[in-house]
Amino acid sequence: MDRSFKEEVLKAFKEKFGDIEDVKCYFAPGRVNLIGEHTDYNGGHVFPCALTIGTYAAARPRKDRKLCFYSANMTKSGVIESSLDDFRPLKDDSWTAYPKGVMWAFAERGMKMEQGLDLVIYGNIPNGSGLSSSASLEVLTGFILRDLYGFAVTNQDLAIIGQYSENHYNGMNCGIMDQFASAMGKADNAIFLDCASLNYTYAPIVLDDMSLVVTNTNKKHKLVGSAYNDRRNECDAATKILASVAGIQTLGDLSNEDFEKYKDAITDPVVQKRARHAVYENNRTLEAVEALKDGRIEEFGKLMNASHVSLRDDFEVSCKELDVLAEEAWKVPGVIGSRMTGGGFGGCTVSIVKNEAIDRFKQQVGEAYKARVGYDCTFYIVSIGDGPSEI
Ligand code: GLA
Repeated sequence: MDRSFKEEVLKAFKEKFGDIEDVKCYFAPGRVNLIGEHTDYNGGHVFPCALTIGTYAAARPRKDRKLCFYSANMTKSGVIESSLDDFRPLKDDSWTAYPKGVMWAFAERGMKMEQGLDLVIYGNIPNGSGLSSSASLEVLTGFILRDLYGFAVTNQDLAIIGQYSENHYNGMNCGIMDQFASAMGKADNAIFLDCASLNYTYAPIVLDDMSLVVTNTNKKHKLVGSAYNDRRNECDAATKILASVAGIQTLGDLSNEDFEKYKDAITDPVVQKRARHAVYENNRTLEAVEALKDGRIEEFGKLMNASHVSLRDDFEVSCKELDVLAEEAWKVPGVIGSRMTGGGFGGCTVSIVKNEAIDRFKQQVGEAYKARVGYDCTFYIVSIGDGPSEI
């Protein structure tokens, strides 16, 4: 988290709303997932961590029932208005559909705001990078509502409400991972989360002579309306079949051996591939967390690579740009592991790279990407940060 952005949101607040008396400032992080992709909505495990980049806000309740939103990233849109008396989505909502959705979801749970809100946000997550800018905005909004309106919710509730609003207000049928990582983040730790029970533990990420490098394809990914919801439906179809033959409730209940035993009950080869990814990826995640605990980082890296291959071939959510980044990374000596992260179809890869190899990594992968894709990728050395806070 970077305190200088507090000045940024306060300045914008003053410009748009006249003064900054009684204004409070907040931050909620984005996330990167180390392993366990497309397992969250399959009752499996994920292993994400919150980042030190995210979304900042300045907020103050109003005397009337208006909602006035302004984004310092999208200055051209100006102040976008709504009202507490009508949460119906509007054509001009733009990014405000996320905070509005969270306010609507709180109201659905009986937590109704009696006064409106002036809200200014500024985010430093690269736009469309798949590092969960929307989840960070949802968690941020929930955190602000709790603080300013006194609603009794835990951070875990903020994740659940954020996911609910995204599913039911924004039409994106996402799992719980992104909101959970943002709401429950802990500096220098990844979150080992069982998405079926929401039981979780923190795992220290001590990389010593290595770093986490996120590489952006700079290809915008758009999850709403994309193949994401189709993948969920295919997994649901597989779950139904395996529930009847193997007595499971979710794909996360299956070992790889049991999957092989029962898989032929799924006659559609595409649906079978999707299920194979969900099952193997969940078990890979369990293995990876064990490897990390034992200090077997090389093993962890191999599992990251295998995760990418499975997302590419079985789940088919990668794309040329992500494949080029992963393949080129695998060639560089000193790269422990590299894979696409998040929903896919664009966005970023995450790699664990030895510090001494970072310059070589950037140069080699950067040049090969430019040559094969035609434009530049961007590298970020990221740090693992805490969940939401008042700043
Ligand atoms: C997106 C969704 C998450 C999760 C990932 C894939 O980020 O929001 O819930 O399903 O894709 O692991």
